Amino acid sequence: MALGGMLRNSAAISLHLVGSLQRKKAGASLRRCLHQTLTMAKRLHARRLDGIDHNPWVEFTKLASEYDAVNLGQGFPDFPPPDFAVEAFQHAVSGDFMLNQYTRAFGYPPLTKILASFFGKLLGQEIDPLKNVLVTVGAYGALFTAFQALVDEGDEVIIIEPFFDCYEPMTLMAGGCPVFVPLKPTPTRDGELDSSSNWQLDPTELASKFTSRTKALVLNTPNNPLGKVFSKAELELIARLCQQHDVLCITDEVYQWLVFDGHQHISIASLPGMWERTLTIGSAGKTFSATGWKVGWVLGPERLMKHLYTVHQNSIYHCPTQAQAAVAESLEREQLHFGQPSSYFVQLPRAVQRSRDHMVRSVQSVGLRPVIPQGSYFFVTDISDFSEEWPAGQGVGGWRPPRAQHGLCPPESKMPDLPGAADEPYDRRFVKWMIKNKGLVAIPVSVFYSRPQQKHFDHYIRFCFVKDESTLQAMDKKLREWKDELGA
Ligand SMILES: Cc1ncc(COP(=O)(O)O)c(C=O)c1O
Repeated sequence: MALGGMLRNSAAISLHLVGSLQRKKAGASLRRCLHQTLTMAKRLHARRLDGIDHNPWVEFTKLASEYDAVNLGQGFPDFPPPDFAVEAFQHAVSGDFMLNQYTRAFGYPPLTKILASFFGKLLGQEIDPLKNVLVTVGAYGALFTAFQALVDEGDEVIIIEPFFDCYEPMTLMAGGCPVFVPLKPTPTRDGELDSSSNWQLDPTELASKFTSRTKALVLNTPNNPLGKVFSKAELELIARLCQQHDVLCITDEVYQWLVFDGHQHISIASLPGMWERTLTIGSAGKTFSATGWKVGWVLGPERLMKHLYTVHQNSIYHCPTQAQAAVAESLEREQLHFGQPSSYFVQLPRAVQRSRDHMVRSVQSVGLRPVIPQGSYFFVTDISDFSEEWPAGQGVGGWRPPRAQHGLCPPESKMPDLPGAADEPYDRRFVKWMIKNKGLVAIPVSVFYSRPQQKHFDHYIRFCFVKDESTLQAMDKKLREWKDELGA
């Protein structure tokens, strides 16, 4: 019997029972029991949530809090935002009392104005604050609004792996179909450290993912979790394919100021022909080291933005005014200091690069093999030296982790007491082991992959390095203890 029919029948039987029970003055406990049956007969969750209800972050955050572990997992700074930003927030709270009230739905006017002028120059585009800008609840809100507004039932969305984990469920919730394409690492020479720039798209494979049903491609540069900064040539390839196949580009650029070693962030919307088909997403949380403010934005052409406005006005309607005012004042300050040593966008990447270098050096002391990132808050490290021999037939396109390539994998596991189920991806079990036994929290990289690819990429863990000196010292202490045990 069809589900609808079954539900109707069980409801009818229940109603019938309610009547007869009332006549017989049945006890309250029976009624309670019947009420439970009725409640259970109805499907509770919307079908769009099927398969997306497991969140790995909850599990690892909980585990981290149960042990006295140094948290290098989640992506947030554990140091204060710059003074000028904190003062801007204080002005917003204690200044004009009207900032306690609603503001314009699509963004507090001074904020949309400065976003338009600031990014207009960077993107080489005339940006209208009233037509090309939407302020959202963080970049998360921007992404959600974009997917809801533009992805339709059955549309295909190309997602580059590894990917910030919400892209897949957001595509599914909009009724779309995610199509994955992996960045593949090229082997390094023995002893050479890997770099996230070695992780590249295969142009033929990427092209093969575009079909007549492809609606959008999601780009994230600098990328979370790899820290890869897409080069101009890579962006041009993506741009060419998007234009050839009339595909939109949703580009998540929340780490755009966090670029190291002289690398340059390039916005794909600044490439010829791309503004008209691109939504560029940013985050004040990442920009001003204030992730709790949850102010994000989307910039794009009017023909796309008008649909995002529709979603926004029928869901969130408007974002907190004071946080928007603080971001507006902070961006105005940055515009005045742009490119100068006093600019936070110059100072922050320098400081964060020092933390990156510190952490990269430190984790190598216990045999973790970092993949050097060009940008973002994160790097991944290869943990294959800790595992059993790389299973035959695994790896991508003949690629093997460095040790396995040279036959240097230990013959038996160095990790006899790995927690977790045997069929759980290795990196998850390794992270649980590391939290419990070594007091360090990282995130398993397989959570940033689609299910079929997880088994190929379960030998990496992600560390977050946007951390204060005291956290780095605490990490070093744990790593020294780990190293001593290895030597023992
Ligand atoms: C790639 C990426 N996009 C978006 C976000 C969400 O940003 P926000 O905190 O502004 O919502 C994050 C946060 O970790 C991220 O890493």
